[in-house]
Amino acid sequence: MHEITVDGRSGRSRILVGERLAHLARYLPDDHIILITDETVGPLYQHQFPKCPTITIGCGEGHKTLDTLAAIYDQLIALEADRASFVVGIGGGIVGDVTGFAASTYMRGLRFGFVATTLLAQVDATVGGKNGINFKGYKNMVGVFNQPEFVIADIGLLRTLPPGEIASGLAEIVKHACIADSDYFSAIENHCDAIQALDEKVLLHLVLRSVEIKAGVVNRDEREAGERRKLNFGHTLGHAFEKSLGITHGQAVSAGMVMAARLSHHKGMLSRTELNRITALLARLGLPTDLDFDRQAVFSALKKDKKREQGQIHFVLLQALGKAVVAPIAISELERWLLDG
Ligand SMILES: NC(=O)c1ccc[n+]([C@@H]2O[C@H](COP(=O)([O-])OP(=O)(O)OC[C@H]3O[C@@H](n4cnc5c(N)ncnc54)[C@H](O)[C@@H]3O)[C@@H](O)[C@H]2O)c1
Ligand SMILES: [Zn+2]
Repeated sequence: MHEITVDGRSGRSRILVGERLAHLARYLPDDHIILITDETVGPLYQHQFPKCPTITIGCGEGHKTLDTLAAIYDQLIALEADRASFVVGIGGGIVGDVTGFAASTYMRGLRFGFVATTLLAQVDATVGGKNGINFKGYKNMVGVFNQPEFVIADIGLLRTLPPGEIASGLAEIVKHACIADSDYFSAIENHCDAIQALDEKVLLHLVLRSVEIKAGVVNRDEREAGERRKLNFGHTLGHAFEKSLGITHGQAVSAGMVMAARLSHHKGMLSRTELNRITALLARLGLPTDLDFDRQAVFSALKKDKKREQGQIHFVLLQALGKAVVAPIAISELERWLLDG
């Protein structure tokens, strides 16, 4: 087991990579524990949960809502949860985001932790203290920064994940390598087959290195004033693809990273060889690199990006593999490049 810490304004978060769900009780007080899970993870893993009251939410982005939150508050009241209670979210990024937000707001804040059960939740969603819900179609519009006391990343739980969910996590893993560590990128290239076979030792290494990279960025810039923006590599165009094409987040981010890498090359930063390596690695991991998309529709979605400021977008470019820079790019320049490209 490996422990990495995130030090946020709200406190310290211990990320326990390689720890087991079966050991969850070791990190909990003796009583007043409430678990929150979803309709898929509950039936699969309840036999490993500590015996405590459990709240179950529906699966999918459509359940990351105020209604779900209200249902959780109702059940917390019915269970007589109070400031002495400890809440644990056991599930993917959705259970994490909703649990963290519910626990942070109920009675002005209860203690909470997570067991991350998807690859994406282990390398991304549960690390960094962002919690929240969607509102009226706007993703993650309402939320809080608040660090979970601990996160257990149990690699064994990934065996039951559908392949598409593995691919989503892999897209974020490649992102971490692209923005921060070229040796990590080479290691992923060298272990593609083992990754596809869900080799536990190799996955443990990936989760560990990705958590180290994300935790490092968050420790330097928790509230996304600067460096944390690098974690949006591939996401500006990725979000536009996700919205306009209705594909998964991982697929959209993969294609978004290829576009951002192309733009980096076009601007004289990233070499052609490194651009080709990024494209080839994503393709080997079963992720899309070249989408057939309506440029105008993607551009319209891009213009609605909530991260734009005064006609400019903070765009993440690569100077080289492992070295990201955040540069303001005029939306008009992006439009020209997109529509001509
Ligand atoms: N807070 C953050 O910093 C942050 C960062 C990235 C993403 N997110 C959020 O995370 C969410 C996506 O998370 P996700 O990809 O984990 O999706 P998810 O939570 O919807 O999980 C994907 C599916 O896999 C199922 N599942 C979970 N664990 C399983 C297991 N071990 N075996 C079999 N099935 C399992 C779930 O029930 C669900 O149906 C999005 O809402 C996104 O906004 C948050
Ligand atoms: Zn993402």
